[in-house]
Amino acid sequence: MELVDTFGRVHRDLRIAVTDRCNFRCQYCMTEEGMVWMPRDGLLTFEEIERIARLAVERYNVDSIRLTGGEPTVRAHLSRLVRKLADLGVDLAMTTNGVSLPLVADDLREAGLRRLNISLDSLHRDRFLELTRRDDLDRVLQGIDAAIDAGFDPVKINVVLMNGINDDEIVDFARFGRDKGVMVRFIEFMPLDADEQWGPDRVVPLQRVIEEIHEAFPIEAIERTSAPATRYRYLDGQGEVGVIATVTEKFCDTCDRIRLTADGQFRNCLFAVTDYNLRDAMRGGATDDELAAIIEGAVHDKWAGHGIDTVHFIRPKRNMSQIGG
Ligand code: GTP
Ligand code: 5AD
Ligand code: SF4
Repeated sequence: MELVDTFGRVHRDLRIAVTDRCNFRCQYCMTEEGMVWMPRDGLLTFEEIERIARLAVERYNVDSIRLTGGEPTVRAHLSRLVRKLADLGVDLAMTTNGVSLPLVADDLREAGLRRLNISLDSLHRDRFLELTRRDDLDRVLQGIDAAIDAGFDPVKINVVLMNGINDDEIVDFARFGRDKGVMVRFIEFMPLDADEQWGPDRVVPLQRVIEEIHEAFPIEAIERTSAPATRYRYLDGQGEVGVIATVTEKFCDTCDRIRLTADGQFRNCLFAVTDYNLRDAMRGGATDDELAAIIEGAVHDKWAGHGIDTVHFIRPKRNMSQIGG
């Protein structure tokens, strides 16, 4: 059976947050004081995560699972979970801030993780420190090398662009990606930040990004898929670059994503305002059919899209690290 919503969108991509915790304190993710973490007993156990993942794969043909956080590598024994999920035979990926990769990349790869996306918003040490409140640029750069050396393919770098903050680094990041052989993706800033710094004037639109890159290194568009990134190839054959135009060219009409938060809430959209509580259902003894009914109901309730650009837009109460990106 397929997990189809009322707009006919089939959902095959499950994003699982394994923790809301993080070893960074990025400005757009939390305030200076940090966050109040979820109580540990509220987190799903690996067995509970595996149960939901298995249900999604076996009942609904979900074929792609991405681990997120917070920062997923702060969850102890993560490779044990990776091993269990790899057994499901899905395309298994993770999004990470990269800082722990020098220590764990080999282990995760060996456990069956295949693809890695690494978040990095500045190549300048002082700016990196200001944005993440940690002086760890070098370790993240080492993490990128460790990911490549461990055999992850592809390795993608996520750069959230913010006007007036890091929008002068577009060409530097493009060059970095070309030199390293990794795919850099520039992301339009979305209103999910803890400090509520977001405003339309903070968004660096796709059009500007591709113009700047094209001037330095000529590119041409690649045909779109259902994935969020609009991709371009360098005409000299030196790889690809992407833009995730979450705001100016939103991709909600081809959305195939569902989400599970670290505390076991099923969400039908990054910007959902409703949580569907799979954790309490599981802990209350729900059968697989009962869990499936919750999931199907949640997908049925899914809206057409996020509506950031409309007066109807409602900011979700959870921030990025509590949703899982
Ligand atoms: P792949 O395409 O499989 O490599 O992964 P991805 O780009 O979907 O995942 P990643 O975690 O690297 O996310 C990159 C950016 O896309 C982040 O800013 C995400 O928040 C954003 N993003 C991911 N999924 C969605 C989504 O469903 N809706 C919106 N609006 N943004 C998303
Ligand atoms: N807008 C766009 N992307 C964001 N990310 C975190 N917060 C935002 C935001 N407000 C990115 C992270 C990470 C991915 C999961 O989401 O940098 O790469
Ligand atoms: Fe952590 Fe990611 Fe949030 Fe940064 S954006 S504080 S890396 S969860």
